[in-house]
Amino acid sequence: MHETTVLDTIGRTPMVELRHCSPHEGVRLFAKLESWNPTGSVKDRIVRRMVQEAERSGRLEPGGRIIEASTGNTGIALAMIGRARGYGVRIVTPENVFPGIPRTLAAYGAEITWVPAEEGVRRAIEVAREIAAREGWFMLDQFADANNVRAHYEGTGPEILADLPNVNAFVAGLGTAGTLMGVGRRLKEANRDTLAIAVEPHPGNQVQGLKSLADGFVPPLLDYSLLDGKILVRSGHAFRAAAELMRREGIFAGVSSGAVLHAALKFAQRLPSGNIVLLFADSGWKYLSTDLWTRPPEAEESEEELDDVIWW
Ligand SMILES: Cc1ncc(COP(=O)(O)O)c(C=O)c1O
Repeated sequence: MHETTVLDTIGRTPMVELRHCSPHEGVRLFAKLESWNPTGSVKDRIVRRMVQEAERSGRLEPGGRIIEASTGNTGIALAMIGRARGYGVRIVTPENVFPGIPRTLAAYGAEITWVPAEEGVRRAIEVAREIAAREGWFMLDQFADANNVRAHYEGTGPEILADLPNVNAFVAGLGTAGTLMGVGRRLKEANRDTLAIAVEPHPGNQVQGLKSLADGFVPPLLDYSLLDGKILVRSGHAFRAAAELMRREGIFAGVSSGAVLHAALKFAQRLPSGNIVLLFADSGWKYLSTDLWTRPPEAEESEEELDDVIWW
């Protein structure tokens, strides 16, 4: 047996074809299932990479303490890696996160600092920075660290190409922009016609893990020249698509994956033929406190066909 730690199980996630979702014969949809990572999300990849680089550069010392602002997946990934590598971990998070998230953080032994729900993740980032400066914690800072992008450029992107050399479009949610920047750049280097399409919540809508640029937050890692378009998705559509994915394919994915599927289907309608790769960032377990799968929200008439597709 190889010497293997839990950190060595990150990445090399499966990609599966969604055979019952494609809107017409010419288009094939493939989903990269990031819930196969040890804490169940894509964020294990970037946290491992950022922590390793911080160790290598000496910014993080053995037995050190790491702080981060997160509404879920990054915090959980950091809590796990802190345990595995012997670091104290503190997560700053808004009070309205899904209840499974603080419980998971606590199970991994992370400390939690709350900020009021209405102040959101932007305030959580400020508070984490203040604590880091005042108390000498190392701030992970997934929004600013280029190792976030590198984890995808060197990991997720090549894995997709190894499974499917001919990708016509890559569709993923936009949070820190790490996934879209890293995978997008890698796929475009292999084939300059590959399109990178960002999925954002419709302004005023919430989709866990995703950010709306129109709401005023521009992730520092975002380089618009690597994006070919963005599709704005309402939360109702994301919920229904996640439920539909479970029904048609037996895949239990999270809400942002529902948003990605909804957006990819929109894009597929205008594509005569080709391969679309969808990145499903996590699974549905954390969101079971909602009735999403048993009672997905009814479509409101006014909601139909209201998603905006923006190309540049
Ligand atoms: C569930 C979920 N989906 C998608 C994303 C977006 O990924 P990225 O931060 O790489 O843009 C995140 C990240 O925060 C997330 O937690």
